[in-house]
Amino acid sequence: MAISGKTRVCGVIGDPIEHTLSPTIHNAAFNHLNLDFVFLAFRVKAADLEKAIQGMRGLGIHGLNVTMPHKSTVISFLDEVDPTVKFLGSANTILNKEGRLSGFNTDGVGALKALRENGAELSEKKVLLLGAGGAAKAIAFALAEVGELVVLNRTADKAKELAAVLGQRFGKKVVGGPLSSDTVQKNLRDSDILINSTKVGMHPHENQTIVEPQWLRSDLTVMDIVYNPIETRLAKDAKAAGAKVISGVEMLIYQGAASFELWTSRSAPIEVMRRAALNRLSGAGASK
Ligand code: ATR
Repeated sequence: MAISGKTRVCGVIGDPIEHTLSPTIHNAAFNHLNLDFVFLAFRVKAADLEKAIQGMRGLGIHGLNVTMPHKSTVISFLDEVDPTVKFLGSANTILNKEGRLSGFNTDGVGALKALRENGAELSEKKVLLLGAGGAAKAIAFALAEVGELVVLNRTADKAKELAAVLGQRFGKKVVGGPLSSDTVQKNLRDSDILINSTKVGMHPHENQTIVEPQWLRSDLTVMDIVYNPIETRLAKDAKAAGAKVISGVEMLIYQGAASFELWTSRSAPIEVMRRAALNRLSGAGASK
């Protein structure tokens, strides 16, 4: 890659940031399409966020991904945000269009594409979503077309609150409740799709899972948003039960692809991005 005076700069801001996969994924895509772009990671402390966004304006940085802990606080420093960001209260992508900073959130669309592109049928299906954090909210919001949605969370109030907001928004049945062996087992019985959006099973707790192997079935689609390890305990158990399994790498890739498309107006080279992410993940431990 030849960097010149015309090279457009994109990046990711967060804290911590040293294990981010985003430079690997985006630089692989820029190179593949011969785009004169480069992608860097910036560690930005919470107290420095406003200065960082001013720096984006001052330096003419073209696009940024935003990760923990800035996804909500960044909104007040942008010029405009799309309706998804307004609903979620969090942004993960910024586009600098001739000095105007626009905020987007590609997590939900990333999850939706990960499901669809891997053959999951969503229309009128029952989805059991574990977790009610930021990722869960984005995923739930993107699942408008499903028939029924049940959200279970360790902190039950968060699941109930999310279910109430979504039920109002979609005008359909959305139920929220506590996450326990009983509630998971019971709800899984008539679910078509199970999505784990909690951090359970993430490195260094690879052996943890919420779902007992005997509850899994071959007619289930199981998506785990955890991508480190690449194959979580839940994914292994689901595979052993003959279920369709979609790994967290898929959501990571498709949300990255949606950001890439906002910055470049080009179709993202999904397979190149996937290979780059998997290469990195199969080497040293990493996180977004
Ligand atoms: P993210 O942006 O990745 O969604 P988050 O907003 O911090 O991160 O949400 C983390 C989710 O994982 C929450 O649903 C959290 O449950 P609580 O709301 O009760 O905290 C869930 N989670 C994290 N550790 C968990 C554990 N050990 N068991 C069950 N749920 C867990």
